[in-house]
Amino acid sequence: MVDSFAQHYHQRTKYDPETIASKSQGLDWSTQPSPYKEYKIGTIYDLKPYLQSTKQDPDNHWWQRLSLFLLCSYGLTARVQTMGDPMYLRAAPSAGGLYPAEIYLVSRGNSLLPAGLYNYQVKDHTLIHFWANDVWQNIQVACFMHPALMVADIALITTAVFNRSAWRYQDRAYRRIFLDTGHLLANIELAGSMNGFRPYFVGAFVDRSINDILYLNADEEGAVTIIPCVDLDIHSDKITPSFPSALPSRTNLEYPDLPDGQLLKYCHEMTEITTFRQLPANPADVDPVPLDDKYNFPFCLKISTATDPIDWQDNLPLSGLEDTILKRRSTRSFTGAELTIDELRAILDFTYHPAHYTNQHLDPHPDYFDLSLIETFIAVSGVKGLEEGCYYYAPRAQELRQIRFKNFRQELHYLCLGQELGRDAGAVIFHTADLKKAILKYGDRVYRYLHLDAGHLGQRLNLAAIRLELGVSGIAGFFDDRVNEVLGIPDDEAVLYITTLGRAR
Ligand SMILES: Cc1cc2nc3c(=O)[nH]c(=O)nc-3n(C[C@H](O)[C@H](O)[C@H](O)COP(=O)(O)O)c2cc1C
Repeated sequence: MVDSFAQHYHQRTKYDPETIASKSQGLDWSTQPSPYKEYKIGTIYDLKPYLQSTKQDPDNHWWQRLSLFLLCSYGLTARVQTMGDPMYLRAAPSAGGLYPAEIYLVSRGNSLLPAGLYNYQVKDHTLIHFWANDVWQNIQVACFMHPALMVADIALITTAVFNRSAWRYQDRAYRRIFLDTGHLLANIELAGSMNGFRPYFVGAFVDRSINDILYLNADEEGAVTIIPCVDLDIHSDKITPSFPSALPSRTNLEYPDLPDGQLLKYCHEMTEITTFRQLPANPADVDPVPLDDKYNFPFCLKISTATDPIDWQDNLPLSGLEDTILKRRSTRSFTGAELTIDELRAILDFTYHPAHYTNQHLDPHPDYFDLSLIETFIAVSGVKGLEEGCYYYAPRAQELRQIRFKNFRQELHYLCLGQELGRDAGAVIFHTADLKKAILKYGDRVYRYLHLDAGHLGQRLNLAAIRLELGVSGIAGFFDDRVNEVLGIPDDEAVLYITTLGRAR
């Protein structure tokens, strides 16, 4: 059968040892896009004063919650001195530190935030109100009347400025843009819980309508997720999501033979939604939570990962989580020393079992697009108490199931394009998906959903590791097919993303 465009894009953007040299281009620093969006006119709402404020009145409290919510989602959290201008790092990590994601805020209109469109100006932690007309109803229509938009008064919209990332990573940047945004979504989800907002992730919307509503130049920037944020101070009886976060798009079986350099933009167009489509009617396909884990190999070593949850409380509820988000950094080098199996268990527990954190005021069922499509494999090279090798992680059974026995350090170094992080990590986590099956359910748009969900899981892995004082870094550049061959991951599983865990140097 002919590949759909998402499969074609995935195949064409694989890194392979034979071709990677011809695909790598030198960087022209003079053309690097700015990671900040500027507006010439608009009303500025400064969010900084509320970070320190101790005033107790309700208005101040609301601003304080919004200010912390945005800071912990995507605010600046570190300054790095360079030869030129200083570089700022943010609460969410980003491949190459290029920050393709923008956050907009849409207000339905209240006494504090007049109706209209705002852009979160990360650099100075302000909101700029750049369009004062009420656009809420248009957003509802573009999101097929998602029920969370009936209740929420504000919504965040994340977009991607493609060239910020494509400047460095060319066509493969599309993958990184969605992984980056997935990390950001995890922060939004957790920062929402910390500050009394319940964010709902809407991945199915009419792209062109949202781009028009935001006045985006669609050649440069496109909407990625719409996130109605229900204020839990007002609506404590949260609405339950009876509506899926993800809906299908077309499956494109006919497309031109495009040259390199044009795949990213085309992939975005081919994954657009233009009209409402139902999910396929087959109930087995639609069940969001399959009862069993996908792989169960007979006679393999099985290790339980059941454990106590991580404690996110320091002196106040979730203050340990806020502190972790604000101090999170990607580790640049591991010592090669071992993790312990209990540390790995705790990281997996936080990442895959949000329901274990209900009594710590975290949402037991945070939104994903469709987690049932994503699988997890772990290459263990240095975990005290766990035999070396490659394991399938069965989240429902809370079990590691060994599929290969071997120390893969040298191979992991090679698979991660020679990055020492792969070699020196104690555990390397791979998120994968059966692309063909995923496309049957959601059309080509699933390519977006899969990378968003993999990034979301990646950020939970990051935060859990940082809380345990371990080192962690994402890796989005790897020799795709070799990963399957070397580690014994089934061929149908396309590798989406890697997270390395270890002891930071
Ligand atoms: C999707 C994604 C891919 C990444 N890939 C790599 C990588 O291949 N190698 C690496 O050293 N760091 C990688 N990183 C980490 C970034 O370099 C890091 O997030 C960025 O420099 C900002 O620093 P911070 O995470 O400390 O805030 C990746 C991060 C993300 C989110």
